[in-house]
Amino acid sequence: MARIFRRKPATYVLGERVADYPAYAPESMRGRPLRITEIGEPVLHAAARPVTQFGTAELERLIDDMFATMDVAEGVGLAAPQVGVDLRVFVYDLTDDLGDRHVGAVVNPVLEVDLDAEPLTEDEGCLSVPGAYVPLERPGGATIRGVDKDGGPVQLEATGYLARCFIHEAQHLDGTLYWDHLTPEQQKDALRQRDEQRAEVLAGRHEIAVELEKTPPVYPAEPAGGR
Ligand code: NI
Repeated sequence: MARIFRRKPATYVLGERVADYPAYAPESMRGRPLRITEIGEPVLHAAARPVTQFGTAELERLIDDMFATMDVAEGVGLAAPQVGVDLRVFVYDLTDDLGDRHVGAVVNPVLEVDLDAEPLTEDEGCLSVPGAYVPLERPGGATIRGVDKDGGPVQLEATGYLARCFIHEAQHLDGTLYWDHLTPEQQKDALRQRDEQRAEVLAGRHEIAVELEKTPPVYPAEPAGGR
């Protein structure tokens, strides 16, 4: 029998390797899960404002709540407009194709896509279009430059799934959803999937919030965005 030597997966917090890390980020444990805005709500379709004050309790609380919201929804990334806040902040907690985990909160991110990397087509979804997944081509690599919650510089290089996440989240802050990249047929298909899956997806968010001993977010019976 062949012996396979597997490398041990690592965790990177804002690009820095850490020795060990809990199943849920500390921010998530402190945060409150909020309702995730849905496609059609204006905050998702407008450019968000830059953060100008760093190290504040408000910014820390926003990031905590965004982590909790993402985790309750079993997401890998979340942008502030998805909790109804028009500020340029996103959070992520994702395990990549190699099994490495990447966690962090980026403030005022600037996205640079790597046009030399081979583009990749994979199913993509968005917590603001609950239950829908559509194949979408994305650049195979990206760099994010921005700051952390205290204003310290952040630079993150990503390929594959992590690059896809960074591109998706950074574009949210310009009011662009993955939805906007789809053909009219794909958009129709995504809404059909959403209509079929939404109630079940929202029930799952409720259940996980209860399991984590947090107050579940309340969603309207019909999508608030009116689509
Ligand atoms: Ni999204």
